[in-house]
Amino acid sequence: MAGAAALRRRFDSDVIEEAREKLIVALDYWDIKDAIKLVKDLGDEVSFYKVGLGLQLAGGDSFAKELIQQGKRVFLDYKYLDIEETIKSAVKRAAELKIDFLTVHGVAGILKAAVEGRGSSSLKILCVTVLTSMDAEDIKEMGFQCNVEELVLARAKKALDAGVDGVIASAREAAEIRKQTNNKLMIVSPGIRPQNSAPDDQKRVATPSEAIHAGADYLVIGRPITQAADPKQAAKDIISEMAAALAD
Ligand code: C5P
Repeated sequence: MAGAAALRRRFDSDVIEEAREKLIVALDYWDIKDAIKLVKDLGDEVSFYKVGLGLQLAGGDSFAKELIQQGKRVFLDYKYLDIEETIKSAVKRAAELKIDFLTVHGVAGILKAAVEGRGSSSLKILCVTVLTSMDAEDIKEMGFQCNVEELVLARAKKALDAGVDGVIASAREAAEIRKQTNNKLMIVSPGIRPQNSAPDDQKRVATPSEAIHAGADYLVIGRPITQAADPKQAAKDIISEMAAALAD
């Protein structure tokens, strides 16, 4: 019996660790000092951080390098959209800095240039499909005649053809992306909201548990952790929910 309990505890801690590695906390702060404080407060609870446009001009680039030196993984979410030569050199630089994930837009030439820029490095290129803050009305306004899911899937297939590593997509589309791309793309899902938390500006949301069940490989979570009264407890609760879903 004692052996079974020990085995159970080991299984629990393995699955908690697996969940922890799948959580990416979005450092969306106005002031870099708040981002530094959050990373310190979260300690070993979180190992993967996303630095985005909100922090970039506030010292985000240097902070990303610092995080890497501290042994953290870094997702640079600058959603590159530019001419191919510029994309290639920007991506090459990110690869040299040992960034883990980098986002580019889902346009064939850009995806191809990003793959060239990445070369044989370990940098993972992620294709932005459709922002999780957008719905049917928004993409209609952008000039697309299809629905959100069709556009997400078309971009996911383009990403696969171009040889990128994964896509950013809502967990609501994760299962269909998996199916239609033969499990060949990593799926990174923002727009995650624990039950009963405010959606903020996100429109295509899912709970941590729903996202894991749908097959998301990584969950990007910002405000439910950064704006929580106790961010460390919020991260722990989310990791537990993810672990329970992984163990199902
Ligand atoms: O605070 P919240 O959890 O909504 O943060 C989500 C993060 O994921 C933000 O940093 C946002 O820029 C990013 N993101 C997104 N939708 C995408 C790509 C990135 O919400 N399609």
